[in-house]
Amino acid sequence: MSNNTKELEEIIEKLSSQLANNIYDTIKTLQFSLDLTERYYENSHSRYVGELSGKMAKLMNLSDESIFEIRTAGLLHDIGKIGFRDTSLFKPISEMNSREMKQYKLHVEIGREMLYNHKALHGVADIVYEHHENFDGTGFPEKKQKNQIKLGARIINIVDFYHNAMHKTMKFDNLSDISQKTNASDYLQETQRKFDNILEYLDSQKNIKFDPELVHLFIKLAESERKKIEGYLVKRIHIANVKPGMIFADSYYSSSGLLIANKGEVVANDTLKALYRCVESDQIPQKLLMLADNED
Ligand SMILES: [Fe+2]
Ligand SMILES: [Fe+2]
Repeated sequence: MSNNTKELEEIIEKLSSQLANNIYDTIKTLQFSLDLTERYYENSHSRYVGELSGKMAKLMNLSDESIFEIRTAGLLHDIGKIGFRDTSLFKPISEMNSREMKQYKLHVEIGREMLYNHKALHGVADIVYEHHENFDGTGFPEKKQKNQIKLGARIINIVDFYHNAMHKTMKFDNLSDISQKTNASDYLQETQRKFDNILEYLDSQKNIKFDPELVHLFIKLAESERKKIEGYLVKRIHIANVKPGMIFADSYYSSSGLLIANKGEVVANDTLKALYRCVESDQIPQKLLMLADNED
C-alpha cells in the first residue's frame, strides 16, 4: 500500500470515527432533552422502547446499521413532544378532545423535522414519522399500510403500545408496592394477569393495528424478558453495597428530573458515580431498590 493511500485511509477512518462520535453526541443531547420531558413517567418510556425495539431488530438478524437505526428511532420516537407547550398532551389519547388530538398528532411531523437537521439521522427520522401508522391503514399521519410502513416503525408501534399498557398499570397499582415486596416472584405473580391481557390484546390486533409476524416475535421476546427477573429478590440496598452487575428495580432521577439509573438496567461504574453524587446532595435516598440474587 502506498504512503498516499495509507494516509488517505487514516484520514477517512479519523473522519468517520469523528462522525460516529458526532452522531452519538447528538443522540445523547436529544435523549437528555427527552428525559427531561419524560420525568413524569416513572420508568423511562423512551429508553425501554429503544432497547426492546433494538432487541427485536437483532432477533430478526438485521444489519448492524439497521439495528442502530431502529434502536435510535425507538429511543427518540416521541422527540416531537418536546414541541408541546401544553402538558395536557401527555395524557392518554382516550382522554383527549379533538383539538388536543389534532395537536398530539403533530408530534410525528415535528419529530421528523427535528431529526432531519442531522444528515446522518434521516433514516431514523423517517421511522419516527411512521410510528403511529397501523398495519390496516387506520393510523396517522399518512394512513400507510402493511409493508408500506417501515419495518422499524412497525416494531416501535408494538413496543410502544406494550410499554404504555404495562406502565400505566404499574404506576397506579403495583409500582409503589414493589418496595414492600421481598420477592420478585410475588411481583411477577401480581402483574401476571395484566401481562397476559396485554399479550392477548396484541394477538387480537394482528393484521389490524400490528404486523402479525412481529406480534408473534414480540410475544416471545416479552415472555423471555419477564422470565429474566424470576428468582431475583427485590431488596433495598445501601448505595455502599450496590455493585456493578446488579439490576435496578426502580428508576432514579436527579432533582432536576434527569434520569440517572433506569429500572431494569444493569449497574455500571459510571452510573454508580452519578448516583453517589446524587445521594451526597440528598437528591435520592441512600437505600436503593435493587434486584439481587439470593447471595447478595
Ligand atoms: Fe408517539
Ligand atoms: Fe411512546
